Amino acid sequence: MSKFTKRVFSGIQPSGKLHLGNYLGAIQKFVTLQEDDSYENIYCVVDMHAITVAQDPKILRARTLEVTAAYLASGIDPTKSIVFNQSRVSQHAELGWIFNCVARLGWLNRMTQFKDKAGKNSERMSVGLYAYPNLMAADILLYNATHVPVGDDQKQHLELCRDIAQKFNNDYAEQIQQLGIESDFFTQPEPLIDFGGAPVRVMNLRDGTKKMSSSAESDMTRINMNDDSDTLAKKLKKAKTDPEALPSEVAGLAERPEARNLISIFAALDNSDSQAVLNQFGGQQFREFKAALIELAVTKIGPIGDEMNRLIKDEAHIDTILKDGADKARALAEPLVKDVKKIVGFMV
Ligand code: TRP
Repeated sequence: MSKFTKRVFSGIQPSGKLHLGNYLGAIQKFVTLQEDDSYENIYCVVDMHAITVAQDPKILRARTLEVTAAYLASGIDPTKSIVFNQSRVSQHAELGWIFNCVARLGWLNRMTQFKDKAGKNSERMSVGLYAYPNLMAADILLYNATHVPVGDDQKQHLELCRDIAQKFNNDYAEQIQQLGIESDFFTQPEPLIDFGGAPVRVMNLRDGTKKMSSSAESDMTRINMNDDSDTLAKKLKKAKTDPEALPSEVAGLAERPEARNLISIFAALDNSDSQAVLNQFGGQQFREFKAALIELAVTKIGPIGDEMNRLIKDEAHIDTILKDGADKARALAEPLVKDVKKIVGFMV
């Protein structure tokens, strides 16, 4: 593994417009990890995951370009990190299939995200949506990633990934040894959840009890990564608050979801934490705090949005980056899948 001791893999689905939650909860953290020289980073646009629910093909393509543009505009550097779209490296699908045959139905039946997404309609969901955690395990284990930055909601999928790694290592222990491999074939990946600072869960601007989401009906509920400065300011100005002044202790935010959300957005944008923000704004009215928040958001997100919008127009440039990234990813994935095939008894 050359000069790197730790390998990071993460992915974002190109299935909706990117918002502040994607930035603060994922992309900003990817950039931080890239700055640490002990990590080798692989950041994927997981288009194969996106089609587990219906996608308009034209829009899927546009969203793939958009996620890539967001990565680049936020500071992910394709000369330092591998950036590519999942479907270009066919080993993801190959290993995903083998994992469909390693994972047990009972394991997948416990996945809460599927139950939440499918609700009462599970009979009409795609098989892909059900098997999606197996593909996610393949994404990670294909590179023997040691660290996986993900949101809270993906923790259970990471545990499944670890179970798959362990079952494969056990079931095929003899064949793995015969290949001359002394240690475990698959590494058990560690999730990186809420590392580096306060937990970032970005909530809906109109209802602080719901997550910020690209599927919420009104655009006023979220900040898109490529909103222009006027739009940013307007949305934050109209963001729901409550009539009280800001508290001076974090405990005072407990029953105030909207206040808590705006404070934690400020903290995340400022690489600080909620208590530090309250030290500054405790006792003040929302009006003053919001003015500072707008200024911070415009300074931090504004240039990223502008750069995204500029990059999106240059499709050829983005595509070259994705293609080069796919070549690098494939060079890592190909030998591994070849070994897996030998281990399970396929003729290669
Ligand atoms: N399931 C993740 C999500 O919806 C996206 C994802 C796919 C991913 N493959 C991954 C994240 C591998 C981390 C590692 O957010």
